[in-house]
Amino acid sequence: MVKRAPGKVDMEKLVSLCKRRGFVFPSSEIYGGLASCWDYGPLGVEMKNNVKRAWWRKVVQERDDMVGLDAAILMHPQTWVASGHVESFADPLSDCKSCRQRWRTDDIKDGRCPACGGELTEPRMFNLMFKTFMGPVEDEASVVYLRPETAQGIFVNFQNVLNASRRKLPFGIAQIGKAFRNEITPGNFIFRTREFEQMEIEYFVKPGAEEEWFQHWLKERFQWYLDLGIQPENLRLRQHGPDELAHYARDCYDVEYLFPMGWMELEGIANRGDYDLRQHSSPPEADSRASGGSGKDLTVYDEESGQHILPYVIEPSAGVDRGLLAFLLDAYHEEEDKDEIRVVLRLHPALAPIKVAVLPLSRNEKLVPLAREIYAQLRRHWMVQYDDAQSIGRRYRRQDEIGTPYCVTIDFQSLEDKAVTIRDRDTMAQVRVPVAELVEELRGRIEGD
Ligand code: GLY
Repeated sequence: MVKRAPGKVDMEKLVSLCKRRGFVFPSSEIYGGLASCWDYGPLGVEMKNNVKRAWWRKVVQERDDMVGLDAAILMHPQTWVASGHVESFADPLSDCKSCRQRWRTDDIKDGRCPACGGELTEPRMFNLMFKTFMGPVEDEASVVYLRPETAQGIFVNFQNVLNASRRKLPFGIAQIGKAFRNEITPGNFIFRTREFEQMEIEYFVKPGAEEEWFQHWLKERFQWYLDLGIQPENLRLRQHGPDELAHYARDCYDVEYLFPMGWMELEGIANRGDYDLRQHSSPPEADSRASGGSGKDLTVYDEESGQHILPYVIEPSAGVDRGLLAFLLDAYHEEEDKDEIRVVLRLHPALAPIKVAVLPLSRNEKLVPLAREIYAQLRRHWMVQYDDAQSIGRRYRRQDEIGTPYCVTIDFQSLEDKAVTIRDRDTMAQVRVPVAELVEELRGRIEGD
């Protein structure tokens, strides 16, 4: 068996597998597609839900200091003034005077157009927020933004959550949802898209405790990727330089994955200090478009000190789509098997879109009732696929390619001994298991970790 070197998977191969097997399709493809927009197909939506479920389970369900939220994408436009996004959420943009291509100036090393070597215009700042209009009148007063981060939905609900859930510091709020950025240079498949999904935590702590919690979340979030099967040599933590920090951040580390195009961010873990809550609680200004906040008190009463304090915030912010891409790339293996190349996605069972495939040895009518019965039984517990087309070898290969960890094969002997074969995706080992014990046997394997 030959394993590909980690981090060396060809992106084109993965894009093609994703299209062919229904993980990811180009958006509105029948109209020629829309640049850097992608749709998740039948397997992609399962896997994406699994990534989000694994995150939610780890950061909300399994902790007693976290609660969830699902805020609206459209927010009061003053949110983005107070947060600093109207003023500062911008990238420098330059145009090539010869070929007219547009570039992010800070991506260009030697000051000349990467496409044709032409001269570039002076950089101008380009705000990344998508604008639209609320209601029928398209004027300045009805401008709203598609949120560029889910985080602000958490900050503006801070007091609501505090009052409703009677929390004490430290505690956190988690949210999963879509965010939008009008990126100048999107690309690399689903790595950087203008519409994307985030999994964000805002963790509120007493001032002075932020460093301890920063370290806690760095460790937790790094380990999460390893626990879900990312190979350690493909994962690293990198601290931001002072010139990289976002306008709200005091310190930030990226969890980076070794993508085919190099080390790139999966998740940022930032110390936002009290920046956001301070901004949102600042008084509304007469000219509210300047920088004013809501004027609402966003402090917490601290019984220990008898004082009202403005919490500090640690923010682990992960991209769902790029996380999914990293899990797929890391799982992709080509192996030599009986003079053939076996493509196998070694996905962690928690992430695999289909957990079990039920495969009757043939379409013989004697096998069908038992195979259907087993299929009906298993699908009460997991996403299960029934496949009776073509040879059993071909069907194993099809399941390997989409990362299905277990195949259950029903053969003629099954009718006699009421037992079936479980075939393991990674080892290809096969064991015989009584039908009566099948669910528990599979549960141990799928949910064992
Ligand atoms: N909330 C941090 C980010 O969106 O990058």
